[in-house]
Amino acid sequence: MIDRPVALVTGSSRGIGRGIAVGLAAAGHAVVVNYYRSPEAAQEVVEQIAANGGRAIALQGDVGSAEERTALIEETEAEFGRLDVLVNNAGITSQGRRDLLEATEESWDVVFATNLKGPFFLAQQAANRMIASIGAGRIPGGLIVNISSISAYAVTTNRADYCMAKAAMQMMTQLLAVRLAEHRIRVYEVCPGVIASDMTAPVKEKYDKLIAEGLSPIRRWGTPEDVARAVVALTGDSFPFTTGDRINVDGGFHIRRL
Ligand SMILES: NC(=O)c1ccc[n+]([C@@H]2O[C@H](COP(=O)([O-])OP(=O)(O)OC[C@H]3O[C@@H](n4cnc5c(N)ncnc54)[C@H](OP(=O)(O)O)[C@@H]3O)[C@@H](O)[C@H]2O)c1
Repeated sequence: MIDRPVALVTGSSRGIGRGIAVGLAAAGHAVVVNYYRSPEAAQEVVEQIAANGGRAIALQGDVGSAEERTALIEETEAEFGRLDVLVNNAGITSQGRRDLLEATEESWDVVFATNLKGPFFLAQQAANRMIASIGAGRIPGGLIVNISSISAYAVTTNRADYCMAKAAMQMMTQLLAVRLAEHRIRVYEVCPGVIASDMTAPVKEKYDKLIAEGLSPIRRWGTPEDVARAVVALTGDSFPFTTGDRINVDGGFHIRRL
């Protein structure tokens, strides 16, 4: 068993997940860089971590598939012998970004499988492993971080499925937090605002304008590193008597203003 904490970050070949993987590695975690369709990008992340003196492996797997979730957990255990941190980051936007009057069941199914069902059942499997390892004294405790979105409460009518799946992540976080507290596993929701990544690249001009007009009190795009810093902070020992919280990383977007 490896002598440092192990973090599995879903969807960490690109964007926010990549930032989180690099941040956790710099903070001393061995990292599993999960990817779906971008093997080269995942390999780059592994190499970047290794170049900085860290330890990482890349594992392919669709979080929407039960078999592939199981394989992810088993391959993590086989490689490192432990799992201390799960970051449910992998996510996709509404397919085609159609107005809700034209929204399709195909988009609903893939968005909910990737953004909600996958994270819930991956958390279930990870938690069961963590409970066994904590009980055996192999790891001191566990941490699960769910990456949701300001779309959990801010309506976008051409991404209804995405908004609803992200809204459900808050309840999922609270359910897991309550059930897992007795096992020394803390659970949080990290709620990013507008973050520069491939996901937001197609709507860059729209957000450039909104940010310039004051969309968030802190008038800039967020970065994957902004989100990574919050996740890394949760892995430390600064929040021992907290669980189930939503941590906003949004430049203050969530504050209602008059
Ligand atoms: N960007 C924002 O402004 C923003 C704001 C709030 C919340 N978020 C949330 O933050 C998370 C990351 O977003 P992002 O902007 O970094 O997105 P992104 O740039 O599009 O990257 C998505 C990542 O998820 C992976 N992925 C997609 N489907 C997957 C699947 N079925 N199984 C495993 N991995 C999968 C991709 O892997 P491959 O490339 O290997 O396929 C990629 O690494 C998402 O949950 C998103 O909803 C983003």
